[in-house]
Amino acid sequence: MLTVGTKGRVLIIDDDSGVRDMLAQALSDVGGYHTEIASDGLDGLEKIRSDEYDVIFTDLKMPRLNGMEFLKKCKEISPATPVVVLTGVSTTEIAVSAMRKGACDFITKPSRVEKIVATADRILGERKLFGQLTSAQNSDVSLKALNAELFKRLQEIVTLNAVSTDVDRHYENKDLFARAAGMAAKLLAANEVSFGIVEDGRFKVKSAIGIRERNFPVAGTLFEEVIERKQYGVFDVGQPSPYDGAPLASQILAIPLLVGNEVFGILCFSAKADGSAFSEEDVYLAINLGKKVSSKIENNALYEVFFNNLVDSLKSLVATIEARDSYTKQHSERVTMYAVAIAEVMGLGKDDIDAIRFGGYLHDIGKIGVSDTVLLKPGRLTEEEIREIRLHTVIGDEIVKPIKFFDKEREIIRHHHEHYNGNGYPDAASGPGIPTIARILSVADCYDAMTSNRPYRKALTREFAVAEINRCAGTQFDPGVVRAFMETKFDKEIP
Ligand SMILES: [Fe+2]
Repeated sequence: MLTVGTKGRVLIIDDDSGVRDMLAQALSDVGGYHTEIASDGLDGLEKIRSDEYDVIFTDLKMPRLNGMEFLKKCKEISPATPVVVLTGVSTTEIAVSAMRKGACDFITKPSRVEKIVATADRILGERKLFGQLTSAQNSDVSLKALNAELFKRLQEIVTLNAVSTDVDRHYENKDLFARAAGMAAKLLAANEVSFGIVEDGRFKVKSAIGIRERNFPVAGTLFEEVIERKQYGVFDVGQPSPYDGAPLASQILAIPLLVGNEVFGILCFSAKADGSAFSEEDVYLAINLGKKVSSKIENNALYEVFFNNLVDSLKSLVATIEARDSYTKQHSERVTMYAVAIAEVMGLGKDDIDAIRFGGYLHDIGKIGVSDTVLLKPGRLTEEEIREIRLHTVIGDEIVKPIKFFDKEREIIRHHHEHYNGNGYPDAASGPGIPTIARILSVADCYDAMTSNRPYRKALTREFAVAEINRCAGTQFDPGVVRAFMETKFDKEIP
């Protein structure tokens, strides 16, 4: 039995008044449900004896009658009513056993409002479909309608799956913004789509189709309502357009984009190509696209924080190594600068140059594993000491190995001491067997080593270093890289 004006009736049973009130409010405000509350299992039983509910959420640990006992009695009184178990993380196993006893799902507390609402929506949707199936058993007409409905659902799932794959493929937010507007327009057959972020009280369009206005305050517009309610809105013809205040010529569907519980943007559709109003399916697809895009942006942001932290940690590790050896101070920075310049002359792509930018900085990171006595020894090194210092390429490779997306940087770290003729280390690789970016680093590294003060000698002149690099083209160095190095004119420009 549905209460007029609501999607369904939900009962929440929890002895923690804070939890049950929060759930009730979320399911009513965000989910659009009629909600009722009960303070324990006994209270809940009284409710289900006198009323029907579409979904019940119940806590497990409660005084008087706990969740398990309630579930058992509930299945006797109202066997078809779906019960969702609310559980703390530590009681997940109990929740699973509750599901074996007839609960239809469980939610771990604390949980996001959207997840709770989505659970109720899904259960209600399944019940509706089940109801249709039961009533359709003796009717061809209903069966046809049901088949059509199932086919439509299948198409929606296929479409959403395609959208999901496409969103995942676009790693950077910039590409994602552009793709999101395009996908949205296609998905809903809308001629106007805008995808923007809400920042400092303004709606800033990042990508749009058929929309001119790109940056405007949200105060007083229809978007303000969407942001405040954190819920989608459908606005009818004649209402003031959020873009320019003029009366709307067609309906607008605005979907809030959330990260955590905060609205950070809006995906807005207008002008359906066939002039129709937005259907329930349109809203469903738009909400799901919005969720997918939001979660991708959230992941990107988290990855960025993680990546920046990682970069900072690695940089401080390099700084530590350089601090141990005052002669090599800023060596990594200079090597990177030389190597990037060589790569640019050679016309390498952005990915390779980015790898050099970071990998160049990290190329000697393995020296963290080389003892001070060897690293800072002023005189000649023994054979054993040479072996130890050479290990820095392998140690560095091991340090960076667990980091995803660092494959190119690893090539630099491992192979920057290989020789073009195969006489280098650690793998005695030669010619094209050495990654190009590592061959570049090798020239840059040697040039800086020669032109810097070392524990065992003073800096050599730039002219001498350049002549030496030229002399070793084809043996130690790749002749192509040496030619590019000569074009960088470092011998004249770097003080
Ligand atoms: Fe090195």
